[in-house]
Amino acid sequence: KNVSIIGVPMDLGQTRRGVDMGPSAIRYAGVVERIENIGYVVKDEGNIEIAPAERVHNDLKTNLKNLKAVADASERLASKVDHVITNGNFPLVLGGDHSIAIGTLAGVSKHYENLGVIWYDAHGDLNTADTSPSGNIHGMPLAASLGIGHPTLTNIFGYMPKIKPENIVIIGARSLDEGERELIKEIGIKVYTMHEVDRLGMAHVMEETISYLKDKTDGVHLSLDLDGLDPHDAPGVGTPVIGGISYRESHLAMEMLAESNVVTSAEFVEVNPILDERNKTATVAVALMGSLFGEKLL
Ligand code: ARG
Ligand code: MN
Ligand code: MN
Ligand code: MN
Repeated sequence: KNVSIIGVPMDLGQTRRGVDMGPSAIRYAGVVERIENIGYVVKDEGNIEIAPAERVHNDLKTNLKNLKAVADASERLASKVDHVITNGNFPLVLGGDHSIAIGTLAGVSKHYENLGVIWYDAHGDLNTADTSPSGNIHGMPLAASLGIGHPTLTNIFGYMPKIKPENIVIIGARSLDEGERELIKEIGIKVYTMHEVDRLGMAHVMEETISYLKDKTDGVHLSLDLDGLDPHDAPGVGTPVIGGISYRESHLAMEMLAESNVVTSAEFVEVNPILDERNKTATVAVALMGSLFGEKLL
């Protein structure tokens, strides 16, 4: 299977500038060569067009920041992802802030009856306009994809919901807002918080995750927020949370996904080169992609 890379230079889902440069930083860290060296044919499809932040004005009828601009970009990303899958390629989406998952999942899920989602993140990204402490749409993509939240976000690409609660696994959670906790309990999402990662170990967490998703889904999307990792290993993110998943645990997780062969699409988000240390976080992202696509030392 060939890999199609789609850049999404989006920073409108939150308020710290710089995450729009994530796709450049990840390309500069050698993503294309890294995946080609594993033996794939890689096509860089370029970037999705995003309105420049300086030109975007907020709609006063909603507290969701940059709603229209985020929705427009999500539609464009959804069509692009849809097209890539229709052509038989594996979509690898480079963020950009995590709001882009709304568009990615909209494009991916059209192709699956029961899409599984692995949400590798310090956060739940399960907020709505009512529960969000920030109004930042990057804290809402998982809720929006479940069909919960503002109709402009839930109806991207003309259908909803994109995913079902029982097909989602969140890994690495350590910062959840009150409304997110309630929603997780109410609709029943499987969550491995850092407590479970510490207690069970990553190998066990991934074994359980893979067997939980394998039989009931017909495809699995990996949505990897670099802030799922500890800020020591991935400092270039806008909303770092201490006490995260290590670099080594993350490699193990990606290697186990590669072995299981369940992942059918992926995105790596929240790389912010302005906040980074010498492109460390983009370099980590590319190394993890190497493991995800089956890179082996020997
Ligand atoms: N829960 C917080 C909020 O809603 C932080 C979300 C962070 N999300 C992320 N994709 N980094 O604003
Ligand atoms: Mn579907
Ligand atoms: Mn996060
Ligand atoms: Mn996130």
